[in-house]
Amino acid sequence: MAEGRFTNPVIASLAGIKDFFAKQQLASRYSDKDRADGRTVLITGANSGLGFALAVEFARRGARVIMAGRSSIPEAGDRVNKLSGSENVEMHFLDLSKIESIHLFVQALSEEKIQVDICILNAAVALPGSRKTASGQDQMFLVNYLSNVILSQLLLSKRVIPMKESSPLSRILFISSDSHQGATHIDYEEFGRYFEYGVSKGISNYSYFKLVLNTYATELSRRTNLGSVKLSIHLICPGPVASNIVKEAPWLLRIILKSIFRIVFKSPARAARPVVYMALSPDYEGTSNKYLHMFNPKKMDPKVYDPGEGKKLWEKSMELLKAIDPDYAAYSS
Ligand SMILES: NC(=O)c1ccc[n+]([C@@H]2O[C@H](COP(=O)([O-])OP(=O)(O)OC[C@H]3O[C@@H](n4cnc5c(N)ncnc54)[C@H](OP(=O)(O)O)[C@@H]3O)[C@@H](O)[C@H]2O)c1
Repeated sequence: MAEGRFTNPVIASLAGIKDFFAKQQLASRYSDKDRADGRTVLITGANSGLGFALAVEFARRGARVIMAGRSSIPEAGDRVNKLSGSENVEMHFLDLSKIESIHLFVQALSEEKIQVDICILNAAVALPGSRKTASGQDQMFLVNYLSNVILSQLLLSKRVIPMKESSPLSRILFISSDSHQGATHIDYEEFGRYFEYGVSKGISNYSYFKLVLNTYATELSRRTNLGSVKLSIHLICPGPVASNIVKEAPWLLRIILKSIFRIVFKSPARAARPVVYMALSPDYEGTSNKYLHMFNPKKMDPKVYDPGEGKKLWEKSMELLKAIDPDYAAYSS
């Protein structure tokens, strides 16, 4: 059975506190001058936490912002309008735990002929245990991993994210977590299979699914950029964010974690800075598969870079999607 780096939420939070005090190598590269005028930015999970802060920041910098979420529609969009002073913000419904919703979302963007320059795959959940989705998978597996495969494949195959010949290239940023480091291995026996588990396996799975996500993003970058870079696909861990990520934790644990978050975790607006930097800075133009842990360039877990592992994960993911997604043909090549 695969194991993530942590099984205890308080230990995981202590690692976050350590990150809070870590040196930020590239922080001085963050600039208000990196504008986003004329660019279209899509953010998933944009109604809350980091995603919301990113929506405000990109709107302030002149982008057309497409906020995708499953709740607070249209209130979250209205708040982004007010906080940024921009009218160029729209909200779309997207429930990543429902495969059909992902297809409808991309179909709507495609029909509106929207061309996304920067796509931030941010949404994720941290659940206290297993939960079965309508399509039969574990909810955290579907939302934190598999939905990102379907969404990225659809956005690319429908050309909502265009492959560009010239600079600036389109960018996809996967919001990850440095907790993926040290997750044991991708377990293909249990891959996509639903089974019951509780709090500690839930915490372990959160970091394990980020290992799986990073391995997919790396394989996507490998396959997309054969010969030359045509699409920049980068990954970033925002570090500890005082967000709503623990809202589903059991109540006592939630009170403890929220108190830790308030005192020593970064505000979403501050945590958004390295993400904005990575999305807009010329430092990341023409390259792919870079990883930042906040403002620190780093290597991901070595397993993420193994081409054999990437190929196997890709094939297993497509095999699973062929079996569970009635509209698989929309993105299979
Ligand atoms: N918080 C941290 O310390 C930390 C550290 C490292 C990495 N991260 C990563 O940062 C990203 C943002 O998390 P956050 O901390 O900002 O947490 P958050 O405030 O809970 O935001 C998560 C977002 O994902 C959305 N989401 C969850 N399930 C969804 C679904 N089925 N369909 C569509 N959207 C869904 C949530 O929508 P609802 O509001 O409707 O639930 C919310 O908008 C995540 O990828 C997380 O793994 C966070």
